[in-house]
Amino acid sequence: MRIDVLTQFPELFDGPLRTSLLGKAIEQGVVDVRLHDIRTFAKDKHHITDDNAYGGGPGMVLKVEPIFAAYDSLPDGPKRAVVLSPAGRRLDRDLVNEFAAESNLVLICGRYEGVDERVLEGLPAEEVSIGDYVLSGGELPALVIIEAVTRLIPGVVGRAESIQQDSFESGILDYPHYTRPVEFRGMTVPEVLRSGDHAAIERWRHEAALAKTKKNRPDLLQQ
Ligand SMILES: C[S@@+](CC[C@H](N)C(=O)[O-])C[C@H]1O[C@@H](n2cnc3c(N)ncnc32)[C@H](O)[C@@H]1O
Repeated sequence: MRIDVLTQFPELFDGPLRTSLLGKAIEQGVVDVRLHDIRTFAKDKHHITDDNAYGGGPGMVLKVEPIFAAYDSLPDGPKRAVVLSPAGRRLDRDLVNEFAAESNLVLICGRYEGVDERVLEGLPAEEVSIGDYVLSGGELPALVIIEAVTRLIPGVVGRAESIQQDSFESGILDYPHYTRPVEFRGMTVPEVLRSGDHAAIERWRHEAALAKTKKNRPDLLQQ
């Protein structure tokens, strides 16, 4: 899978793309992430990518030409383009699964007040939000999508069952996990998890997952 990122701040991706599972997946060529600095596509000598908003008001707007120039520089072929925006469709498991089935994603990172609306009018791009709050740029949301999608590529997460048991996969949250030591500051690992009785462990985990879902995300149970 190839992911192209159009950004004004490629340096923000340095650490996350080199670390842990994501770093390994990139190193092994399972996912090919290409960063495109939109400043290099600005034609003027100062490489200006933003300007004042028509109609007035505070804040700058990311210009349409460098974004189109960066998009046009990408190889031909089917691709799904996303503009990161708090005003977009909220990212969830279903959307991540859709993205993971694509061969080429293009992630367009906004800054300031966002991108000129003609990016959305002129490109086959959809707006996607990572939640109902506002960040200063689309780079962290792009990294969220890259990591969530990469986890779903077969072989990236060592054991496939580990993904199947993750929160949301079966409509509820994951069950609680424990590791050594058995006792820490008076808190002990539930006896059943040490019993070796696999059926009892399964039952306990399912009930604990339901209880956690009821407490933290009752909306999931209604669905
Ligand atoms: C300060 S925000 C712009 C907010 C915009 N004026 C609004 O109120 O919808 C700058 C950029 O950060 C990114 N961004 C901020 N919050 C985001 C979120 N929750 N999801 C996705 N992208 C976000 C977008 O790329 C956005 O263009």
